[in-house]
Amino acid sequence: MPENESHRYDVIVIGAGGAGLRAAIEAHERGLRTALVCKSLLGKAHTVMAEGGVAAAMGNVYPEDNWQVHFRDTMRGGKYLNQWRMAQLHAQEAPDRVHELEAWGALFDRTPDGRITQRDFGGHRYARLAHVGDRTGLELIRTLQQRAVSLGIDVFMECKVLRLLTDDSGAVSGAVGYWRASGDIVVFESKAVVLATGSIGRCYTYTSNSWESTGDGHAMAMWAGADVIEMECVQFHPTGMVWPLSVRGLLVTEGVRGDGGALKNSEGRRFMFDYIPEMFRAETAETEEEADAWYEDHANNRRTPDLLPRDEVARAINSEVKAGRGSPHGGVFLDIASRRSADYIRRRLPSMYHQFMELAGVDITAEPMEVGPTCHYMMGGVRVHPETQAATVPGLFAAGEVAGGMHGANRLGGNSLSDLLVFGRRAGMGAADFAEGRAGEPAADPAQVDAVVAEAVAPFERDGGENPYDLHRDLQTTMQALVGIIRNGPELEQALEKLGELRERAGKVHVAGGRSYNPGWNLATDLPSLLTVSTAIAQGALARKESRGGHTRDDYPGPDPELGKVNFVQRQTGERGYAAPIQISAEPLPAMPAELQALLEEGH
Ligand code: FUM
Repeated sequence: MPENESHRYDVIVIGAGGAGLRAAIEAHERGLRTALVCKSLLGKAHTVMAEGGVAAAMGNVYPEDNWQVHFRDTMRGGKYLNQWRMAQLHAQEAPDRVHELEAWGALFDRTPDGRITQRDFGGHRYARLAHVGDRTGLELIRTLQQRAVSLGIDVFMECKVLRLLTDDSGAVSGAVGYWRASGDIVVFESKAVVLATGSIGRCYTYTSNSWESTGDGHAMAMWAGADVIEMECVQFHPTGMVWPLSVRGLLVTEGVRGDGGALKNSEGRRFMFDYIPEMFRAETAETEEEADAWYEDHANNRRTPDLLPRDEVARAINSEVKAGRGSPHGGVFLDIASRRSADYIRRRLPSMYHQFMELAGVDITAEPMEVGPTCHYMMGGVRVHPETQAATVPGLFAAGEVAGGMHGANRLGGNSLSDLLVFGRRAGMGAADFAEGRAGEPAADPAQVDAVVAEAVAPFERDGGENPYDLHRDLQTTMQALVGIIRNGPELEQALEKLGELRERAGKVHVAGGRSYNPGWNLATDLPSLLTVSTAIAQGALARKESRGGHTRDDYPGPDPELGKVNFVQRQTGERGYAAPIQISAEPLPAMPAELQALLEEGH
């Protein structure tokens, strides 16, 4: 084999969304040789699609807000499956991360007296989301990218990482990937690796996620021997576009409801009043008058049920559609036109206005939108230490959506941008500490590199076989139909059987053409991750015999208090890779200190 291009660093960060950028900035500022590796162009990561805002208890709009209330909301939203220490650190540190972003140049929307303003979002007790219209993720990426570039951090873009490399002790020692432009192999030798690869949405047919969200980091961590947790917990955002079909799943920000939008069924009824769970009843408005009064001045403190946590709203929409009260294209209506002026809508929600006008020919200042649930976020991910973000394999760190634990069974809107800032920084610190303490220079094992390359280029060498697009479509159809928003045991077993067949077919994938910018080959190299992650989700979903947060089983419709005390942990021992088995076990959640437990109880 020809000699491969190779680079040596102290820390490499895989993924250049918010978490990756923030981690790289931290490691670089600690004086370590740091590189960012991303499979798309710098600045194009999926974080740009985050619309509504960054959740941080700054108290700019409601002085009574503080980290304790944010912590409680987050734990309650996650149905108490969260790693409490992560939720605590997140709530405590998010305000500093927002102020830091502002100091680095982010231009947030303002209160009349000049402070960063904050908007309402689902499950947050107070208006808490710092935002830039409905383009907050874009501003966040722009700011972090500017900082990373001005610091001179090395960036390898359009470079797809295939696998992590490990040394004789099992510690991570780098990664191997290829340049999308040439198809040439590139090897990174590194003392520490931070995974910041984002989500898994491309396992499903309808998703708000970009093409990049193929679960690479989740899968690579497992193949390197790391634990993943809560993989059954996938979030279906209640409001994605449902029509036209070509854009089905595209995000319709919760900011529409935060700014006054109301969900209605085909009878014009605000159906969310019929779906208020006991847990939220005390603080949720029970009549339209009460809800609208809350929107006007928040004086009555009983929030509109349109802003219940996402799992509750998504299930309610699903039930309305199933009961035959949906919109013409299989969703429900989201109406802001009859509730806010055209000027207000265009000012507060400019992207939504353009998105519906350009893609659906719908003027949201005059007509309702049609919306329905879309796969949006992965709560499950790499099991990490809450303070350092260290995975269970030495040398490996994870931050942002690829890391598990922070959000439990359901994430609150806005908590993802704050998560990636708080834990991106912590992962950068953790990786820097580890790299500083690691003796000697890391070295790639040529045999491992050769094996990865051989697997990656095998589709070119087969004489005919499976089309990667057919396989991907069959995978998405399986996940959408059998491991979607409402699940049950027999369907999950069927899904696992089908996923087994798909894994067999993946070994026969054929790709034509050359290696330069070949999307078919790129998809063929995504399939192993998509299959590993899908299998872990289905397996976790079968094991969790209860309904909790984003994971709903119609054969176990309620929560099980005993299962509320455990995480399902998955790992590959012995044989590893997309075709190898995954072990699953239940492990107790860490015990929460009494003072935090008391905070949770205070809210009831
Ligand atoms: O609805 C939204 O704007 C999405 C935000 C989020 O997922 O945090």
